[in-house]
Amino acid sequence: MEMDLGLEQFLALSEEDQLPYIGRRAILYARQFDRADIDELCALADAARALHADPEGATRMGGLLRGRMALNFFAQPSSRTFMSFSTAQAYLGIHRSSLRDVAISSMSKGESLVDSIRTFVSYVDLVVMRHPDASAAPTAFWTASRAHRRMRLPSGEEVPVPIVSGGSGARHHPTQALLDVYTLQRALRGVGGLDGKTVLLVGDLRRGRAVRSLAQMLPHFRGVTVLFAAPERYRMLPDVTDELDRRGVHWEEVPTLEDALPHADAVYMTRIQDEWDEDRGSGHTGTPPDFVFRRRHLDRMRDHAPLLHPLPKRDEIEPAIDELDDPRVQYWQQERNGMWMRVALLARLFGVDGALRG
Ligand code: NCD
Repeated sequence: MEMDLGLEQFLALSEEDQLPYIGRRAILYARQFDRADIDELCALADAARALHADPEGATRMGGLLRGRMALNFFAQPSSRTFMSFSTAQAYLGIHRSSLRDVAISSMSKGESLVDSIRTFVSYVDLVVMRHPDASAAPTAFWTASRAHRRMRLPSGEEVPVPIVSGGSGARHHPTQALLDVYTLQRALRGVGGLDGKTVLLVGDLRRGRAVRSLAQMLPHFRGVTVLFAAPERYRMLPDVTDELDRRGVHWEEVPTLEDALPHADAVYMTRIQDEWDEDRGSGHTGTPPDFVFRRRHLDRMRDHAPLLHPLPKRDEIEPAIDELDDPRVQYWQQERNGMWMRVALLARLFGVDGALRG
């Protein structure tokens, strides 16, 4: 749908009402993706992985988006999301530049985000962005939709320069939700995938944009049960639980991680997100013990159940677990899965996904 609204009007729309404008032109919200999209993207990520494993395939992949330019604009800290997007772009042959410190951009001279995005799309064909302000990604999308320059797809169609959120405020991290679902589907392959499974989400569920985005994607899987284990002040907010109710998903809050472990088919740990604390300077005071995954917990976990974490982790997973050779410990594989999922997403955005399937 053409952007026929002013910025204020667009930002005033609910996420649901923004979706027809976004279509497949940008990636802003986990709710953009339905089950068919998820299945297609997981298959595409597998195809990308297989293609790249063959040297000729890797060379072919490196030619798919040659000559394209990307900007990775990260106004908040990032290791994995930045690295995996950057690597995915390199694998597809995209040239890339990065802006990671707003202090050295013209935004520090008072340039608005709208003008900055207009500038970026003068030069690049893709903007991946992370921003503390939840309205920054839709603002960037609106700006790109109305900007002076469009980019031409291989099909000849001219489209606004795509905006991809790599984390927006405390709510949205759509590409993380996709890579998490991809990891869960792969890890649970031997037992029929995510359908019908119980997923235990642990930690700061109130402010963790990764876990909140994942919780919004889980209802696409038939018969899923979601268990939430969070300290009282970090409980999941009603916006997500109401949506689970609307979509008929059974969910429960459990008092500790330990009690729920024997019932879980997957465990997703998260960090206390203290960068959102009022007194931000106080630093990490330690994860409440009931929400720390310890080595002995592996004995209470089902044999097929993977242990995930969006990372970075601190003390919420006992370090000894990294030294074990337990196939259920999947968070390092999860990082790599994220890169293949981002190859899949970028290929689809640029309309070269057919070439990945070979
Ligand atoms: C997350 C983030 O920044 O939202 N990390 C990530 O992208 N893998 C989660 C976190 O920082 O805890």
